Amino acid sequence: MSNIDDVPVEVSKVFDTILVLDFGSQYSHLITRRLREFNVYAEMLPCTQKISELSWTPKGIILSGGPYSVYEEGSPHVDHDIFKLGVPILGICYGMQELAWINGKGVARGDKREYGPATLNVEDPSCELFKDVDHSQVWMSHGDKLHALPTGYKIVATSDNSPFAGIAHETEKIFGIQFHPEVTHSVKGKTILKNFAISICQVNANWSMENFVDTEIARIKKLVGPTAEVIGAVSGGVDSTVGAKILHEAIGDRFHAIYVDNGLMRKNETESVYQTLTEGLGINLTVVDATDKFLGRLKGITDPEKKRKIIGNTFIHVFEEEAAKITPKDGQEIEYLLQGTLYPDVIESISFKGPSQTIKTHHNVGGLLEDMKLKLIEPLRELFKDEVRHLGELLGVPHDLVWRHPFPGPGLAIRVLGEITPEQLKIAREADFIFIEEIKKAGIYKEISQAFAALLPVKSVGVMGDQRTYEQVIALRAIETVDFMTADWYVFEASFLKRVASRIVNEVDGVARVTYDITSKPPATVEWE
Ligand code: XMP
Repeated sequence: MSNIDDVPVEVSKVFDTILVLDFGSQYSHLITRRLREFNVYAEMLPCTQKISELSWTPKGIILSGGPYSVYEEGSPHVDHDIFKLGVPILGICYGMQELAWINGKGVARGDKREYGPATLNVEDPSCELFKDVDHSQVWMSHGDKLHALPTGYKIVATSDNSPFAGIAHETEKIFGIQFHPEVTHSVKGKTILKNFAISICQVNANWSMENFVDTEIARIKKLVGPTAEVIGAVSGGVDSTVGAKILHEAIGDRFHAIYVDNGLMRKNETESVYQTLTEGLGINLTVVDATDKFLGRLKGITDPEKKRKIIGNTFIHVFEEEAAKITPKDGQEIEYLLQGTLYPDVIESISFKGPSQTIKTHHNVGGLLEDMKLKLIEPLRELFKDEVRHLGELLGVPHDLVWRHPFPGPGLAIRVLGEITPEQLKIAREADFIFIEEIKKAGIYKEISQAFAALLPVKSVGVMGDQRTYEQVIALRAIETVDFMTADWYVFEASFLKRVASRIVNEVDGVARVTYDITSKPPATVEWE
């Protein structure tokens, strides 16, 4: 981008954008995801979005599925102004029923819920939506269905159970489909979405990480202006590191990163974060050693939620204290706070049902904003996690950091069960280090979503040489998951577990026994506390 004044501050003004209006289906975010897979930028907003309040014009609109029935009182409906924009519209499942409802209310409860695969028959081969799609498997998941063809529409596709599997307006570019093209079980689903976006909406498919990063850096430069200063907390995780690197690219040392060492990090972690961020990435970083403060406040505490609360509050306190010490050279006030919000968090918070109750309070540093009166900068808010990783690689963030397993904010405090002491932390640290080292040596680190050692607050009898021992127990945990909401335990080779157990018992003082946790989530959680 050559001229900063030409850079809009919203991504949807830079890239041709498809607007996805979300009616609450569990699959809605996948629509956005699929479109981006073929370089079409898409943004999801709640179905109740007022079109007059949009500051940009979409090239096309997709109405998602949803768990409601259009004819029930209180069910969500779309702003009728979507039809005034003159852009193509595609209704998926509930979205199609919404089109029919607006058109003459021809929607009824089906005799039975239809869930699973069906074969799509394209009845009108000239329909652009179904180019290269005939007789493929599609995924149905609906209770309601159309009982009549809405006025002005024609049938373009059917399935055995759905005479209206696909409908199209006779004269306008408005389409409805009963099935879900966004799920991978719909074999040609991506082709259908591509036909809609590229052939019908004529979107310029120019979304790429390379284009995004240039635009984003320019956008932040413009937003922050020539003098303002920004602070941000970094943890050594991929999100905060990538966010910090973008800020550094945009405004150099006017971005101040603060890393709070809470004494609950893993072996060598603080040193390694310091090196990577400063020597490796050139970021202006302050490391605060607050170990004594954290461990002091955690003394005697065994309740997991109390631990989380203390750690969260202490973090805010230390961060604010440190931020107050940073006085930019020219006396300029710090104006902005970097936050590593990702797109799934945004989706959760824009839901028309209100923010999800499942967000854990410690996951964001919301308290900081109220106290410090800072404005937010969220460079990753348009991105999914795998896109952040891709961006990290592009920006030269080391591969190991980009692919690091997630590590919880409260750190080892929730992996040392019971009271936290320096001695207990040392045992957990050493055991975890051996486990991860062996996983990396075996070349399976990337297959596993998260792995760690937890130190249990029980003692167990053992024997070493001729001596009876009475020491603690380590539980190893390794899981595979897509979204961390559900997870399965990872199946190691027996020889691997034997090797790790033997190393831990022999090399870590204070451990007499090693177990492997074979519980899935649910009913267990990933962490032990
Ligand atoms: P659970 O234990 O809830 O973990 O099944 C799911 C994912 O969340 C991480 N986790 C946390 N992350 N603060 C965090 O930043 C927390 O308090 C916290 N508790 C769990 C956990 O490591 C896993 O990746």
